[in-house]
Amino acid sequence: MRISDQPIAAKLAALGVELSPGVAMTEKTSLGIGGTTDLLVLRKFQTIPEIMRLLAADGIPHRFLGGGSNVLIDDGELSWVALHLPTSKPGMSVEGNTATVDAAADLGGMVTFCAKNDLGGMEGLIGVPGSVGGALRMNAGAYGTQIGPFVKEVQLYRAATGQIEFLRGDDIRFDYRHTSFAPDDLMLRVKLELPSIPFKEILAGIKICNEKRRSSQPLNQKSAGCIFKNPPGRSTGRMIDELHLKGHHVGDATVSDRHANFFVNAGSASCADMLALIDDVREKVHAAHGIELETEVIIWKN
Ligand code: EPU
Repeated sequence: MRISDQPIAAKLAALGVELSPGVAMTEKTSLGIGGTTDLLVLRKFQTIPEIMRLLAADGIPHRFLGGGSNVLIDDGELSWVALHLPTSKPGMSVEGNTATVDAAADLGGMVTFCAKNDLGGMEGLIGVPGSVGGALRMNAGAYGTQIGPFVKEVQLYRAATGQIEFLRGDDIRFDYRHTSFAPDDLMLRVKLELPSIPFKEILAGIKICNEKRRSSQPLNQKSAGCIFKNPPGRSTGRMIDELHLKGHHVGDATVSDRHANFFVNAGSASCADMLALIDDVREKVHAAHGIELETEVIIWKN
């Protein structure tokens, strides 16, 4: 989708929007998959409600793109523009046991920043790729740790009200890879309440998690992490592995040799390739176990 109308482009610029025309989503996603669209970087929180009104009035559909690490985007010219928060020098501060962090911050960067301020508890999240906003939306988790329980307050733009609002952590539901946020809520900033732990101790925990991750996940390949959720009490990775599907592929979309719930882009996989692989593996698991796997990765079809 292109914003070709000059008056709209000028109004957006006046609202602090930096418009990059025709950006390849292959460059903005960890899978290296996705078509092309205009990218709008929202430089000022306060103008977001006005920007959203402007886009709606002009019939310009949009999607919020965070770190791009848990999304599978359609091929070709996309039918929506991508909205993005600026990622350079995101705000991070600490006061007592409370860390205040911009949603655009890198999740691992936030864990490290908090650790340096002797605030821990999130060691398990260290290698989870993506932004703090994406982690909040999905309630990212690993090695027994999820971000949800640490959330004290979230500042967000709510499409339902067209306003910037504050939600208390207690008023948000955080479940396994699912939250009560609406799909069109845009995370802006979060306050986390964290336990005081000496830096050295946190660092030791971080090293253990990093090691576990390195030994079991294909970190040097293009992926979106686990492609499916784990059904209650079951491991999707193990089920796919036991069906001998490691290395199984559609085009360059390939089941990782290292972890069977990671589907990697081994070259120039398209979204269509990845979707075909997802369907194929889902059918095979269903045939063998009677379980309908649910994708963990967010799929943005045109
Ligand atoms: N396993 C296999 N073969 C495989 C992969 C796993 O037999 O190819 C076995 C393992 O040996 C282990 C069990 O399955 O006994 C579980 O595997 P693992 O410890 O790797 O955990 P997982 O359930 O596959 C979950 C999360 C990961 C997270 C890890 C570590 C989901 C869908 N996945 O994976 O999160 O990093 O635990 O806590 O919840 C993600 O969210 O994208 C993600 C990768």
